Amino acid sequence: MTGEVSSLPGVSALPVASASSAIGLYARKTAGFDERLAHTKQLLQQAWGQHGARLLQSTSLGAEDMVITALIAELQLPIAVATLDTGRLHPETLALLPQIEARYGIKAEVYAPVADAVVHFVRARGLDAMYESLALRKECCGIRKLEPLSRMLNGRSAWITGLRREQSANRAEVPDTELDAQGRVKVNALADWSWADVWYFISTFEVPYNVLHDQFMPSIGCAPCTRAIAVGEDFRAGRWWWEDENAKECGLHKAHSNEELKESGATA
Ligand code: ADX
Ligand code: SF4
Repeated sequence: MTGEVSSLPGVSALPVASASSAIGLYARKTAGFDERLAHTKQLLQQAWGQHGARLLQSTSLGAEDMVITALIAELQLPIAVATLDTGRLHPETLALLPQIEARYGIKAEVYAPVADAVVHFVRARGLDAMYESLALRKECCGIRKLEPLSRMLNGRSAWITGLRREQSANRAEVPDTELDAQGRVKVNALADWSWADVWYFISTFEVPYNVLHDQFMPSIGCAPCTRAIAVGEDFRAGRWWWEDENAKECGLHKAHSNEELKESGATA
């Protein structure tokens, strides 16, 4: 990105690198990157080998998920790529769907909420009811995310996510592979990646990304529930920022215990 400096008297406008370019801010190669990349490729290949057409990538179209889609394309794995369009996403997020198709030839499956349920909820509670109470916020997430997620995963035995341990204290223990609440295998293909890794990959392989990342939004969800973060704030501080720290999950990600994992054979 470029910006202009024109406010200094006697100084003509000069194009400068934007201070807020996510690549400029975050991309760097750190020790172990090549190993983490190789491990992710192995996880994706292994998941395809074990689940085939019953596997999909669940993408929020955020930076992590764009890395995974790029790897699926590079490895030529015919894994379905699917997204939940809640009806409240930013246009900048949705703009990535045609970019994925143009760049990788992948047409993402799009799952939307049931229109009647949305209309009923909005009529009864208002468009922005999520700010009024945790219960209403969860009801909105239930209608716009969880119900479409259950349709998206119907008939699938495994899904790939971009959850990373570094994202929050709640995610600090995210394993490479786990079971979701329905007993499906969840492959967290970038669990051990850092934010610097994500952007190093995006920069190196010129992966398309959400331009909102250049506006201090590292974690992007629905527009009413996402804001930019300030310097020094946590990675997910811009998500449901008016809520208590521990409430900040929408229910897409609920883990099972390690014992259940071992019994099911989901771990290698
Ligand atoms: S959320 O639960 O707080 O919304 P987050 O935005 O951090 O999750 O994304 C974590 C992972 O959840 C993503 O890498 C992706 O796998 C999945 N995910 C989140 N939002 C969506 C979405 N709208 N459509 C599909 N998958 C999503
Ligand atoms: Fe509704 Fe916000 Fe949840 Fe999106 S993140 S479904 S707008 S409460």
